[in-house]
Amino acid sequence: MSELVSTTRHGDVAVITISNPPVNALGPGVPEGIRSSIAAAAADPGVFAIVVIGGGRTFIAGADIREFGKVVSGEKPRRSLLPLLLEIEDCPKPVVMAIHGTAFGGGLEVAMAGHYRVIAPAAQVGQPEVKLGIIPGAAGTQRLPRLAGVAKAVEMCAFGEPVGAPEAVSLGIADRIVEDDLMAGAIAFAREVAARPAPKTRERGEKLGDADSAVFERARQQAQKVRRGQTAPLAAIEAVEAATRLSFEDGCAREAELFGQCLYSTQSRGLIHAFFAERAVSKIPDVPKDTPVYEIRRAAVIGAGTMGAGITMNYANAGIPVIVKETTREALDRGMATIRKNYASTVKKGKLTQAAMEQRLALITPQMTYDGFEEADIIAEAVFEGMALKKQVFGEIDGIAKPGCILASNTSYLDIDEIASVTRRPELVLGHHYFSPANVMRLLEIVRGRSTAKTVLATSMALAKRMNKIGVLAGNGRGFIGNRMLGPYLREAQFLVEEGASVEQVNGALYDFGMAMGPLAMGDLAGLDVGWRARREFKHLEKPGVRVPLAADRLYEMGRFGQKTGRGWSLYNENREPSHDPETAALIEQLAREAGIERRTVTREEIVDRCIFALVNEGARVLAEGIALRASDIDVVYLNGYAFPSWRGGPMLYADTVGLKTVLARIEEFRAGHGEDLWSPAPLLVELAGNGGTFTGFDKQREVAAGA
Ligand code: 3HC
Ligand code: NAI
Repeated sequence: MSELVSTTRHGDVAVITISNPPVNALGPGVPEGIRSSIAAAAADPGVFAIVVIGGGRTFIAGADIREFGKVVSGEKPRRSLLPLLLEIEDCPKPVVMAIHGTAFGGGLEVAMAGHYRVIAPAAQVGQPEVKLGIIPGAAGTQRLPRLAGVAKAVEMCAFGEPVGAPEAVSLGIADRIVEDDLMAGAIAFAREVAARPAPKTRERGEKLGDADSAVFERARQQAQKVRRGQTAPLAAIEAVEAATRLSFEDGCAREAELFGQCLYSTQSRGLIHAFFAERAVSKIPDVPKDTPVYEIRRAAVIGAGTMGAGITMNYANAGIPVIVKETTREALDRGMATIRKNYASTVKKGKLTQAAMEQRLALITPQMTYDGFEEADIIAEAVFEGMALKKQVFGEIDGIAKPGCILASNTSYLDIDEIASVTRRPELVLGHHYFSPANVMRLLEIVRGRSTAKTVLATSMALAKRMNKIGVLAGNGRGFIGNRMLGPYLREAQFLVEEGASVEQVNGALYDFGMAMGPLAMGDLAGLDVGWRARREFKHLEKPGVRVPLAADRLYEMGRFGQKTGRGWSLYNENREPSHDPETAALIEQLAREAGIERRTVTREEIVDRCIFALVNEGARVLAEGIALRASDIDVVYLNGYAFPSWRGGPMLYADTVGLKTVLARIEEFRAGHGEDLWSPAPLLVELAGNGGTFTGFDKQREVAAGA
């Protein structure tokens, strides 16, 4: 018997417990342990029924995802789970799967091979493999339609969303909810069914004919919309479709083929990288997990504009009472109207109840004074971007806030240390940089100032989690991680239109690359006034003689702020749909002519390479300077703050995938054409390309060094 899987006897029922913390993944030893435990129980004449249950917090969260990377890099694949599942299904004694926590991926596949499933009320079941760029690989696409019906199986396998216990029962995935003690309930259930012939999922055909072919077509269209560019959802649909046409055995063979294709794709590499990157991000080498955290009971937000309103909602959503302060009644009313509108639209979508909306609104106190700020445990500042104003506000709140109160700025670019310098508590000052819309985007850059205390960082990480955000630690340099890298990316997009590409071509090339929108469309969405304000703050740092984009300031001066004014790089109708703007095109042409820029045909490949490699090159500097702890942290920032295509794993993994030698060669070409100041390659990139390294490898080395 394996240590990972153990059996206890409860009278005539054998209970097999899986103990592979933290999530009972089916790593080495677990399937083998289940197999031998089932075989032993089957052979034991005193056993009439078998219960399989997860020890700890969950049933089985799936295959061990770490194994996939090893297989792809050439390690011999472990034995498929399929024979084990057949053995479970063919066991002559009834096997009851007792599910709590999550039965995901291979976990649900194991569960479906049992003859019955009982489930705890809060448990979830699902086939989330597509989120990793793969599909179920142990007959999930074949057994799930037999239990839940074809339409639901297509949905669950193609989109990866789990279902809760009540729905699992009504769909037929589980047989019964056990309200109290799951093991006791499972044992009782096993005794109830022990005398009946045990149903085998693979032999059930009654639900396979319950959907017409339109189900698959609709799912494909939906996948192309919500998982644009991804291959796994389409493969998952095909595999479920195979279940309706082929025998169980042939369906499994087709699933295996499709699984293999997905596993050996760069897409699964990207998505698996993103999964682990998101989990690595909270690990800060000098801020250990047991660092004490402050309790955040009350909060205050200054500014109820675009960002302040969303930040206020984040606190209310986390159940934290929050004051929001503005300077004028109009601005306050506008901010509160935005908050109400946002909540109302969530209620309309059915994602929030009216009562919950009222509860959250009741946590928000809008006002124009600092009354009550002395009780706040954290004050978040979101006033206009400008050092003078930020210093004034921090000076004011430092005088009012209680000792121990954290002061967080939402500044996009400004120096946190300079802001902290006007306070008597620099150790409690840091950046909390949210992304627009702040109540929606999951990224939060937590910007560490020179004096920021570790407790404040740990508290911020915990707060991010409480807000359902992903906190990424960033060093204090202009633009931190995300916006600093965005600078060269947006610069190249603008240079390309000056050199001859149209606005639509530039936006289209990056949209086709997988970005949620092109760079100029993003500028129009964020507001060209926002960029103008930031540029004004740093004009004095521009190096004379170095090329700068020409049109953005002119568009701002013409009152063309983007979507909010109906005109920016593009024209917008009342539904905010863009169209070509001949006026912008003429302006760009004129400015290029005046500057002596030669207009030429620009290829799609050049657009993508110049924009994305500009991002990567700056990313390498951010990494070398320690502004980001890991290349994978940069990827998390870009995936969650800038809608970089998840299946490419982020800009740094994309560079690894292309090959750093190739990336460097391309950057050298751009340097030859556009000059040293714009395109000098980052020393770290040169070093890694020179020694055959990767950013992923660099992360591993840094991790080892930090641990040493
Ligand atoms: N394999 C390996 N490690 C896993 C894992 C898995 N399937 N699932 C979670 N982990 C690890 C995490 O990396 C993390 O490790 P760390 O502490 O070292 O960072 C730890 O377990 C805890 O995970 P979370 O921080 O995510 O814990 P939560 O409680 O927030 O969430 C969860 C738990 C809902 C199970 C979530 O981890 C999850 O969604 N996991 C992935 C589930 C999944 O995708 N399963 C399918 C795998 S593919 C498969 O089964 C193929 C099959 O068809 C053959
Ligand atoms: P905004 O212009 O929409 O809102 C700023 C608000 O602050 C205004 O409503 C103004 O009345 C208020 N305000 C100014 N001085 C104040 C004071 N002394 N007390 C109380 N309220 C005051 O600006 P936005 O876009 O919300 O930006 C705020 C901050 O967030 C800036 O630092 C910006 O750089 C940053 N940021 C902006 C993002 C964006 O996409 N708009 C994204 C991330 C950060």
